[in-house]
Amino acid sequence: MEILISYLTRRQKGGVSRRTEERSAEALHFGRSANAEVYLADPRIRFEHAVVHQRPGGLFIEVEKHSDVRVNGQPTSNRSVIVGDVIGIGPFDVTLVEPPEGKDIAIEVELVRPLGDDYGQLAARSTVRLEDYGLSRRRWSWAGITGILIFFLVFPLLYFNQHTESTADKTVGARFDAVWDSGPVSSPHQFISDQCNICHEKPFIQVMDSACLSCHAPITQHFDLARAELAVIPQFSNLPATTCNDCHREHNGGKSLSISTESFCTDCHAGIEKSLANTSVKNAGRFDQTHPQFRPNIVSDPASRMFTRVSLDDPAALTEKSGLKFPHDAHLKKDGVRGPNGKETLQCGSCHNLTRGAANFDPIGMEGDCERCHQLVFDPRRPDRTLPHGQANNAQMLIREFYSDYGLRGGINDVQEPATAATRRRPGEQAPVTTQRQSDPRAWADQQAQRVADMSFGKTMCGNCHEVSSGEGKGPLNWSVVPAVVNKAWLPRGRFDHSAHSDMLKCDSCHAAQNSKQASDVLLPKIAVCQNCHGGENASNKVQSTCITCHDFHLPGTPRMGNTKAWRKHTDGDAALRDTQTPVAGQK
Ligand code: HEC
Ligand code: HEC
Ligand code: HEC
Ligand code: HEC
Ligand code: HEC
Ligand code: HEC
Ligand code: HEC
Ligand code: HEC
Ligand code: HEC
Ligand code: HEC
Repeated sequence: MEILISYLTRRQKGGVSRRTEERSAEALHFGRSANAEVYLADPRIRFEHAVVHQRPGGLFIEVEKHSDVRVNGQPTSNRSVIVGDVIGIGPFDVTLVEPPEGKDIAIEVELVRPLGDDYGQLAARSTVRLEDYGLSRRRWSWAGITGILIFFLVFPLLYFNQHTESTADKTVGARFDAVWDSGPVSSPHQFISDQCNICHEKPFIQVMDSACLSCHAPITQHFDLARAELAVIPQFSNLPATTCNDCHREHNGGKSLSISTESFCTDCHAGIEKSLANTSVKNAGRFDQTHPQFRPNIVSDPASRMFTRVSLDDPAALTEKSGLKFPHDAHLKKDGVRGPNGKETLQCGSCHNLTRGAANFDPIGMEGDCERCHQLVFDPRRPDRTLPHGQANNAQMLIREFYSDYGLRGGINDVQEPATAATRRRPGEQAPVTTQRQSDPRAWADQQAQRVADMSFGKTMCGNCHEVSSGEGKGPLNWSVVPAVVNKAWLPRGRFDHSAHSDMLKCDSCHAAQNSKQASDVLLPKIAVCQNCHGGENASNKVQSTCITCHDFHLPGTPRMGNTKAWRKHTDGDAALRDTQTPVAGQK
């Protein structure tokens, strides 16, 4: 018989592709055998699955024993078939179609149940249903969802709405919003751990910067983002839009609340010029390897209170011009110095006081630290009278008044006259009035005042400790003092805590004060001293120190955080941001 076979393949988009074959044979064999006229490549098909013969009465199908064949959906063994019948052979559907001229039989073959569909077929043919046993998946799903909604959404919401103001109720179980708990709150925030709504201001909305800033109001940026070309560092190109949460992970177990890895900082600081072209900041990496030498802030001009940063590796430029004169060595002599009550040996702590709990020493003060030995007595015969410290004008006014008073009223010897028995004053006695003083008391007083001022300012007192000038040509009593600017923090961008080190180290392992002859010496330790003990974050034989061991991130003098709108505007080219910036806090 003459056979026309069309293999149909459905494409994903819905079209059908057709491949036709023509055969002539005794009968039409279906199977996996190579001899079969219709070769069906599928493991579910038998070698010889079924045969269609042409008999006098028409077409007849013979099914191999136990083979899966259905005619129009009905399982079958042997029977006759006609044009229009669909013969299911395993996963294939074979449709008998009207044969064209010259053909005895025409079929279309299509794979309709690809492999992997077995379970579906089995399930479809199974008569056992979960519903029959009360196990309806749908019903259980609904019950589950309703339970979850009630216990984990409705109850917590009701609870939340009733307790938005405060909760003193700490009993677990009664607190339905505890089911949303995602782990303990960090230890610094433990005190609000039962008031979730302080941070989670609105349900279903991420914690916002404003919640953090309600307590941490003054938090600033790290640097003035408006100055930087952030786009060049891909991982920070979005820095203006970062939120507190990006760097501070809450509910993070015992881990630090802040990002603390070295790499977070060195991504920028290993090549700082990439994020800020015209910066003077040096590149910095792991502390004991590529961290730069310290550059303390030192007074370079006391009159205008100017500070300059000078590297400790640049001894020539390392001269602090604080306006003060002070020899450490003269005061630290082993055999002591003269004090009001005889010789005493001074320790560092005689002048430098560490207020309990403070990281740094209090600044030196003339009154507290020096005056008991360096009294501002201007007339040796009146040791009870001292000049006020700190204001050159007031001191000169006092001197002038002091001598005018005596010029008019008497009471003290003319120091120019040799002291005789007759003129030496005894306690409680009025001094005899000299001839000059009688004839022109005002001129005498002026002359005395100038002489004593010249002496006190120029030599014995102020000039000992200060840079002074006599104001020559500007009239009498015109001495002035270059104001002393006592530095408060030489390394303000780093952190150093004396009390954390004072048990381990003597002062002179870091400060060579013993041999310092002048106040202009900078007595700070170089970085190598710290590197003896401090290593990088993974150091094995040193104190493990990451960047934030010694540095703050939110640097003072930079614009405030939480103003992301303004930054975004700026990055779009709006220059208004600069106006919102707080001025850089200079050291005054
Ligand atoms: C100090 C502020 C703070 C407190 C207090 C706080 N959280 Fe959070 N919580 C956060 C932050 C920040 C996140 C992470 C950002 C976010 O997903 O909103 C967070 C995330 C969560 C998340 C995960 C949300 C998510 O999107 O992944 C849950 C749940 C959560 N908190 C529940 C609680 C519960 C319950 C309490 C009270 C017991 C609580 N929190 C108290 C700050 C806080
Ligand atoms: C109710 C006020 C309050 C809120 C709201 C608050 N904090 Fe705090 N935070 C504190 C207090 C208090 C400390 C502890 C300060 C201390 O120990 O000196 C602290 C400490 C910190 C610290 C320093 C942690 C440390 O290891 O020293 C960080 C970082 C911090 N908070 C970030 C945040 C962030 C981010 C948010 C917003 C999700 C936030 N805070 C919300 C009060 C608050
Ligand atoms: C997005 C890049 C970036 C990241 C991340 C970064 N910095 Fe900075 N840092 C800068 C820029 C830019 C400056 C400002 C330089 C200037 O003002 O000239 C700066 C300034 C500083 C300064 C002040 C330097 C000086 O001498 O004035 C210190 C200290 C510092 N960063 C330390 C850190 C530490 C520690 C970290 C990690 C916790 C860190 N930085 C993370 C870019 C970054
Ligand atoms: C008689 C008081 C006095 C004693 C004692 C004294 N100092 Fe000072 N020290 C000063 C004064 C005044 C200054 C400020 C002058 C200056 O800027 O150098 C100063 C400044 C310093 C500074 C910072 C100055 C710089 O430029 O680095 C250090 C560090 C210091 N002293 C260490 C010591 C140590 C260590 C000792 C003990 C061995 C000591 N001092 C003993 C009075 C004293
Ligand atoms: C215990 C007493 C004592 C204290 C306290 C003291 N000094 Fe002196 N100071 C002396 C003595 C004594 C001398 C003279 C030492 C010498 O010439 O060898 C002296 C010398 C000086 C000199 C040098 C004067 C010169 O003629 O060269 C200066 C400057 C000075 N002191 C400043 C200070 C300052 C500033 C303080 C406070 C921070 C201070 N002293 C605290 C006792 C003291
Ligand atoms: C024994 C040293 C010593 C003598 C003497 C001395 N001073 Fe000072 N003076 C200091 C020190 C130390 C400071 C800085 C600490 C302070 O302000 O107490 C200072 C600070 C000053 C300041 C700056 C105050 C400020 O707040 O900016 C003036 C001005 C001043 N002295 C004037 C004088 C005058 C005027 C005299 C003379 C009558 C004088 N001093 C004598 C040690 C001395
Ligand atoms: C053991 C303490 C310590 C560690 C750890 C440390 N630094 Fe520093 N760093 C300092 C001190 C102190 C200064 C000097 C501060 C100053 O000049 O005011 C400094 C200065 C700097 C400067 C300014 C450099 C300049 O002169 O221009 C930068 C930037 C810096 N550090 C970044 C880092 C980075 C990034 C890390 C981590 C890889 C780090 N530091 C680790 C103590 C430390
Ligand atoms: C491990 C080294 C180290 C040791 C030990 C040490 N210091 Fe310092 N000291 C420093 C550093 C670093 C600074 C600069 C801190 C700053 O300006 O930020 C400093 C600053 C100072 C200052 C200037 C004022 C201040 O606190 O900033 C004085 C005064 C001082 N030290 C005195 C002492 C005395 C006194 C001792 C002994 C009890 C001592 N130091 C021990 C490292 C040390
Ligand atoms: C003799 C070893 C030694 C030297 C030198 C030394 N440190 Fe330390 N430092 C330590 C030890 C130990 C700790 C405590 C570590 C701890 O508590 O986990 C510490 C702690 C610190 C801390 C953290 C303090 C805190 O608040 O907990 C800083 C910041 C620091 N050092 C800075 C410095 C600087 C800057 C220098 C150099 C001027 C320096 N150290 C020199 C041993 C040293
Ligand atoms: C780009 C990362 C980053 C962002 C964004 C950030 N911080 Fe920080 N913050 C840090 C790092 C790193 C530290 C730890 C170093 C230190 O102690 O300053 C820190 C420290 C802190 C501290 C403790 C030290 C301090 O200065 O008081 C507080 C509080 C804090 N951040 C609050 C905030 C708040 C609030 C926001 C959001 C407005 C915020 N931070 C955004 C990185 C960030």
